[in-house]
Amino acid sequence: MTGSPPEWTPPGLDAARPSAARIQDALLGGGDHFEIDRMVADRLRQVVPQLSDVVAMARKFLRRAVRLLTDRGVDQFLDLGAGLPTRDNTHDMAPGARVVYVDIDPMVEAHMRLLLRENADAAAITANVRNVDAVLEHPDTRRLLDFTRPIGVITLDVLCALQDEDDPWGMVRSYMAALPSGSHLVAGDPHESGDPVADQLEQALRMTSRGCVFRKPDVIARYFDGLELLDPGLVPMAQWPDPRRRVLEPWERLMVCGVAVKP
Ligand SMILES: C[S@@+](CC[C@H](N)C(=O)[O-])C[C@H]1O[C@@H](n2cnc3c(N)ncnc32)[C@H](O)[C@@H]1O
Repeated sequence: MTGSPPEWTPPGLDAARPSAARIQDALLGGGDHFEIDRMVADRLRQVVPQLSDVVAMARKFLRRAVRLLTDRGVDQFLDLGAGLPTRDNTHDMAPGARVVYVDIDPMVEAHMRLLLRENADAAAITANVRNVDAVLEHPDTRRLLDFTRPIGVITLDVLCALQDEDDPWGMVRSYMAALPSGSHLVAGDPHESGDPVADQLEQALRMTSRGCVFRKPDVIARYFDGLELLDPGLVPMAQWPDPRRRVLEPWERLMVCGVAVKP
């Protein structure tokens, strides 16, 4: 679907404006984006030439985290800000699990719906993750997820899209409050490190519709308040779950992540 917008577009999609989901797709080498998204992806790669590797690193973290959660008995997932389908989606990495994908971009639901047409265990809904009740009360969420059993909540590269005044901390707390003990939070975001490459990327993202707040690690760590952060804690994504890994390149330190369980 690369190139000009097709005549069909899901309602609410503005094909003339770059979208975070489609820029992400362009960075991952997918085919579900338009020329405008590729141009933004190219511009961002001029700032951080390894940006596609950063995005791929986040997807690899997601794979490792989903595996950990399935090993811990979690078989249902709420993937917030899921993005367009790519090679390893949460439902691919947790066969047999129930998955609800949530994204504000209607193209995500449209593409996921095609991909999931023969999968009764997963669904995608279009919603703003800030509308916690709308997400949790959505008929597909209620149909697929059993709120009496642990659920894995995934927030990968999405809380940074919320401003401080949107209170992403309170939002995470509301989701986790609605879930039973044994539920997990998987979170990963770019962070403010003082490294010039992080400053340059944050500035470049601010110029796109993919605005992104790079927060200090101790501020990101507050997403896990009230939960038990699993080893090795909040660490650079390239070092999760083994922080003894070799010395990292600056681009490998752009994102931090952690996984926690609700006691
Ligand atoms: C950078 S992409 C990350 C996608 C995926 N989680 C990953 O890490 O590969 C951010 C995604 O969050 C979605 N998003 C941003 N703000 C959102 C909001 N308030 N509610 C729901 N989705 C949102 C965007 O549409 C986009 O698909």
